[in-house]
Amino acid sequence: MRVIVADHPLITHKLTMLRDKTTPSSTFRTLTDELMTLLAYEATRDVRVIPHRIETPVAPTEGVVLAEPHPLIVPILRAGLGMLDGLLRLMPSAETGFLGMVRDETTLQPSVYAERLPANLTGRQCYVLDPMLATGGSLIAAIEFMFERGATDVTSVCLLGSPEGVAAVEKAVADRDVTLVLGALDEKLNEHGYIVPGLGDAGDRLYGVAG
Ligand code: PRP
Ligand code: URA
Repeated sequence: MRVIVADHPLITHKLTMLRDKTTPSSTFRTLTDELMTLLAYEATRDVRVIPHRIETPVAPTEGVVLAEPHPLIVPILRAGLGMLDGLLRLMPSAETGFLGMVRDETTLQPSVYAERLPANLTGRQCYVLDPMLATGGSLIAAIEFMFERGATDVTSVCLLGSPEGVAAVEKAVADRDVTLVLGALDEKLNEHGYIVPGLGDAGDRLYGVAG
């Protein structure tokens, strides 16, 4: 697995505002969207393209267009939804699949409550979006889900990750083609499985406290 931790002052600046507990939901949503757009630069570095010939007003030239099948973006509900538009804006021809997962806050085990993904992911480049990589349970389950459907090339984008979560994903995916792009690698998990210093519950901060 390839791990890329973004090292850019603008990303750190926006993460600082995101982490701040006084940041309201409306600003939190805007920052999440902007951060995804900034992280997309690293996340899509290996997106597949094919040569494409065009004519500028001055001369013919060869450029590129996205290869078929177009990439599949998979936000993990709820919190991953906050990152979807930031990537779709840059790759409007990408398709979107949905995976709804919730972590049991006592056992920290994830479960899937909704799924709307293509049955066959063979040959698709998949981009999994989830702001938080804590124990890694949710991301591992999502990646397994996609590999079971034939995906072989998965890039995960998380705003924050814990060392424990990165190690768990690394162990689970072994030598498969997985790239993990993080906005920042935080210090640790606390006894409740929350990232420290983190930003709290990303889903609640984006959309309000779930019942
Ligand atoms: C959060 C987060 C991840 C998961 C991370 O989602 O968005 O999906 O927890 O934790 P893990 O790495 O220990 O599995 P949550 O289950 O709170 O659902 P939500 O997005 O609906 O708030
Ligand atoms: N889920 C979150 O939203 N935040 C954490 O810190 C851990 C899991």
